[in-house]
Amino acid sequence: MNEFEIRRNRLLDRMDENSVCLLFSGVSKIKSEDSTYPFLSNRHFYYLTGIEQENSMLILIKGICENHVYLFVDEYNEIKEKWTGKRLTFDEARYISGVNNVNSTNALDSILSLALAKEDNQYGAISTLYLDLSPEIKIRESTSTNELANAIRKKYSHLEVKNIYEDITRLRMIKSKFEVDSIKEAIKITQQGINNLIINMKVGQYEYFLADNFEFYGRSHNRTNLAFDTIVASGKNALCLHYPTQNSQIKGDDLVLFDLGFAHKGYAADISRTYPISGTFNEVQRDIYEAVLNCNKALIEYAKPGLTLLDLQNFASDFLRSECIRLGLMDESEDIRKYYYHSCSHHLGLDTHDCAIRSLPLEPGNVITIEPGLYFANNGIGVRVEDDILITSTGAENLSIGIQKEINDIERLFKMKG
Ligand code: GLY
Ligand code: MN
Ligand code: MN
Repeated sequence: MNEFEIRRNRLLDRMDENSVCLLFSGVSKIKSEDSTYPFLSNRHFYYLTGIEQENSMLILIKGICENHVYLFVDEYNEIKEKWTGKRLTFDEARYISGVNNVNSTNALDSILSLALAKEDNQYGAISTLYLDLSPEIKIRESTSTNELANAIRKKYSHLEVKNIYEDITRLRMIKSKFEVDSIKEAIKITQQGINNLIINMKVGQYEYFLADNFEFYGRSHNRTNLAFDTIVASGKNALCLHYPTQNSQIKGDDLVLFDLGFAHKGYAADISRTYPISGTFNEVQRDIYEAVLNCNKALIEYAKPGLTLLDLQNFASDFLRSECIRLGLMDESEDIRKYYYHSCSHHLGLDTHDCAIRSLPLEPGNVITIEPGLYFANNGIGVRVEDDILITSTGAENLSIGIQKEINDIERLFKMKG
């Protein structure tokens, strides 16, 4: 069965009887004048359809004894394709999504009105409409799903409108074999990109050179896309967690923090590594690096079903606090938030910071990051070591175990390249 069909069936299982779920890919966002940001379908919609095209919609109908699924995409438009690239035909949309019933978006209103009508009809007597009420989903430039919900409540007073966001989030939190394999492949390409980076690292380079080098590697070898904007931050620049500028020249004694990842079939890798540009850690860098590395390894050992992300965060804070006090890097316990000011974990998937109900205990099939860090302004050192792990029935499997993070391995690699 098509992966997207399996997902739709799981969602249908969660829906009330006599209900309709209506989802939108969304519309392009204007950047300025007539230029738009690159379009990405809303990820909940994509998760259920595989369709990456604006103005597409999905209807799931759960009747008493029969379910119905309809996909709507704009009619193929040759002129539009000549200007802005590939447009889907109905056949292509059918093939990708596994939905047999593909219609023009112009047909949405008539099918929807029929399904939502108060009188019994071919779909039964529908009493619930599910929408994804995330505020950012725009179904037209200026209309959100929340505005649609209000209009529907007025027009169809017999309907209860419910938010489906959390149900789809719960499905996305448990990864299938296909999803885990896709993340593994994204990590593999990322690992190759990092290996290539190490070969090319030299004192005096600019941060952008290394970022471009990584990105070019992925594009040229795998025709793959980035999962998120590449972060290459040398020295004190690493104190900014999502450092965006990449325009500093890397000095001879700098550590360089890389936070980067490619995506495969839409699934993200999210890896951080911190390497000395000279190939050798100095004493204070070594102390701080080892504290973070040991925390990363202890967290991976600790992670298992039943724990929450907050449990992991408390573990990381306690670990780093005692290391910082032991190393004489701080005196007061509560100062740890000055040197460790993010959380150590998030879910990973179609989004790099994947949708999640963060209070839910971990379950087998969750894929999360493990990313403790320490950041000191006084000596211009920022270290983060980030791996991607799969929660299993007994603990966790480190999916990025092959990407070097031990000091000996890093220093040996730099020596080997000369
Ligand atoms: N790359 C963003 C993060 O690690 O959360
Ligand atoms: Mn990251
Ligand atoms: Mn991360």
